[in-house]
Amino acid sequence: MSKLIVLSNRVSLPHPDKSTAGGLAVALQDALDDIGGTWVGWNGEKVNHPDEQYFNQTQYNGVEYMTCPLTEKQYQDYYCGFSNNTLWPAMHDRPDLIEYHAEQYETYQKVNQLFAQQLDQIAQPNDIIWIHDYHFLSVAHYCRELGMQNRIGFFLHIPFADLKIWDLLPTASNLIHDLAQYDVIGLQTESDQKQCLNVCHHFLNAQMMNSTEMIHQDRHITVQHYPIGVNPELIQKVAQQQNSTSSIFEFDDFQHQQTIISVDRIDYSKGLIERFSAFEEFLKMYPEYHQHFTDLQIACPCRMDVPTYEHLFEQVKLKVESINQEFSQQDWQPINCTHETVEHDTLMSIYRQSDICWVNSLRDGMNLVAKEYIAAQDRLDPGVLILSKYTGAAEQMPEALIVDPQNRASMVNALNTALKMSKAERLERYQYLINGLKHFDINDWRNAFLKDLEADDASDQFVTPIEEPFKNIAHS
Ligand code: G6P
Repeated sequence: MSKLIVLSNRVSLPHPDKSTAGGLAVALQDALDDIGGTWVGWNGEKVNHPDEQYFNQTQYNGVEYMTCPLTEKQYQDYYCGFSNNTLWPAMHDRPDLIEYHAEQYETYQKVNQLFAQQLDQIAQPNDIIWIHDYHFLSVAHYCRELGMQNRIGFFLHIPFADLKIWDLLPTASNLIHDLAQYDVIGLQTESDQKQCLNVCHHFLNAQMMNSTEMIHQDRHITVQHYPIGVNPELIQKVAQQQNSTSSIFEFDDFQHQQTIISVDRIDYSKGLIERFSAFEEFLKMYPEYHQHFTDLQIACPCRMDVPTYEHLFEQVKLKVESINQEFSQQDWQPINCTHETVEHDTLMSIYRQSDICWVNSLRDGMNLVAKEYIAAQDRLDPGVLILSKYTGAAEQMPEALIVDPQNRASMVNALNTALKMSKAERLERYQYLINGLKHFDINDWRNAFLKDLEADDASDQFVTPIEEPFKNIAHS
């Protein structure tokens, strides 16, 4: 029987990080817990010399973890540099922030090669290999160089840039040729899928068979969208079980107010400053709402060794301070912002207790906060989701209040609508949204991808195939 081997830069190690891990790691944990397998990646640590770099192995709950540290140079060049200062802004439509250094690209390639070598050591010929995200565009290329014939799939959790952005990257052609060494390329949305096919067509001159298949150098490649989901039943259970008060926000203090929750990494793609500016405008336009609601913001600093992120962290702090200074009253402060990392279970309980969730991304592959918020709601008294039109989630959640984060009036109006929304309307919107989440959950996402990846080897499947993977009842 074949084994599943997953590779991602971040790994949700059973201890101590499991409960505080972010979107991708939580989703992969959910996907692996069910069927087991091996999870390879970075352990989050750094060492000074390559000879201190070796893989550690641990096992938990049927999953085998195989992680190693990065050297200081790899951390700077591969992680901070090419991954997060070149590819990340490129994929999030920020050409103004793209930096390119040939040396960082070289290190990126070496790290991809290092992980390919590890995969080569542990994989049996019929094992299925599933590689995640922009850190590892080139791993399959090195696996093939090592002679590996395994089925290897790739899933991109972030948006796929359009051709004019790829054209700005000096190594675009190499990267797209490397990408063509995968058997299945998975994207979050249909529009990402189209961009990917278009870019492949341009750089590879591949033979396009139809809207999901191409042939390049005798390799038959599937390019498909698989919108990542959550585990609604589990989230509902966890959100109900948690204590009614959390150590982060004292909900008892907000009993006579409505609460708005936002949870973001401090990243320019998340539209934090735009959201606070809209919020400020709302406070100016509607003084009658003062003291009647509180904005709860969990804003976690990340990638702080990349100057753009460090600078944004300062900007966010200043913006929150200035709004609070201008509008606070003796016993009321409009924004309650924490930069602490919150445990995943606690977060689900915070979602359940919050009247509104506001996701404001300027560009986002999917955004699992939106899906988790809906999954955590009280079925009899659900909250309202305000969702940016630039998230992948907006394609599947049209019953949220969809906003344009570049348009202040659109956000101000949505907040006004959300605060006033009747219970009947909240229930109606929620019902559509939760049905959509249940119809294509995290297991369906994994199964749909693996079904395509295993397509050549149907006799040896270890997951149950599903039917009609993308049919969202909200649209049917
Ligand atoms: C996004 C990416 C993930 C990444 C996460 C956190 O969700 O798609 O690959 O792990 O951000 O970013 P970090 O740089 O802290 O891993």
